[in-house]
Amino acid sequence: MTRMDLQGRRVLITGGSAGLGRAIAEAALGRGADVTVIARGAARLAEVARLGARVLAGDATDAAFMDASVRETQPDVLILNAGAPLAMGQIDELDFEDFSTNWNVDAKAGLAGIQAAFRAPMATGSRVLVMSSGAAMVLSAAHIPNQSLYLSGGYVGAKYMLWFMAHNANAVSERRGLGIHFQVLAPTQLMAGTQLGLNVASAYADLKGVTPEAYLQQRYGPPLTPSHLGEQVADILSDPRYRSGVAYGLTVGGAPVGLDT
Ligand SMILES: NC(=O)c1ccc[n+]([C@@H]2O[C@H](COP(=O)([O-])OP(=O)(O)OC[C@H]3O[C@@H](n4cnc5c(N)ncnc54)[C@H](OP(=O)(O)O)[C@@H]3O)[C@@H](O)[C@H]2O)c1
Repeated sequence: MTRMDLQGRRVLITGGSAGLGRAIAEAALGRGADVTVIARGAARLAEVARLGARVLAGDATDAAFMDASVRETQPDVLILNAGAPLAMGQIDELDFEDFSTNWNVDAKAGLAGIQAAFRAPMATGSRVLVMSSGAAMVLSAAHIPNQSLYLSGGYVGAKYMLWFMAHNANAVSERRGLGIHFQVLAPTQLMAGTQLGLNVASAYADLKGVTPEAYLQQRYGPPLTPSHLGEQVADILSDPRYRSGVAYGLTVGGAPVGLDT
């Protein structure tokens, strides 16, 4: 592996103006990639433009906008990271609109992005990375108890759906002989370093009467930071060892962990 492997490669990132998307954009820019960021708000887009990214203002759930963005930028790598803040609440309290927030943003944007990759189509050898969450492992990982997610409503389902959609897209890519490889990113910890992460941590921390930072320390131990996560995503894109797997956990340990193939 060489840290130059992203040099000149075109990387398109949805939700790249803040939080994890911005950290991934910064890591890719740091390795010489030609980065384009999609988000809605102009002020934060202007900030990433100043870092050297190109920016496209628009909604990642808008299929026509995503089609046009992929056709225009012809990315070697498309990162479908955009996600909505969670409507925090118990299942006996949330109405359907709040419960399905992340289905209507995260999963819908995932579908729009995956379909844009197929419609363009992206080139043979290109990659599409879908942002899921370690929360999607709740029923298969003993260290994630159900009770730790009981305020997170439909979020877990949306993130599990995105994971499945990547596998589904690989099956279609193979059937159509397109050579586009779909992969899943699963941050294994909640991060207070993003607005979304802070909001979720605050909701659980309030119930325990502790600070969000204390809650996260108790729940996970040492914190995973967005910049550390951004570097791991850049490693996944640079290091041939991560070329063919499907899902990778992003961890505080430093190296992405293969979750499924
Ligand atoms: N933070 C965590 O601890 C954590 C853990 C696991 C997984 N994740 C996942 O990682 C992703 C990023 O989370 P984050 O914590 O970085 O969130 P964040 O800080 O709230 O940032 C979200 C980004 O997405 C953009 N965005 C939101 N909706 C959009 C839409 N419809 N179209 C285009 N852009 C949109 C936002 O910009 P605009 O609002 O201006 O459009 C912003 O750039 C999400 O999918 C989240 O579920 C986060």
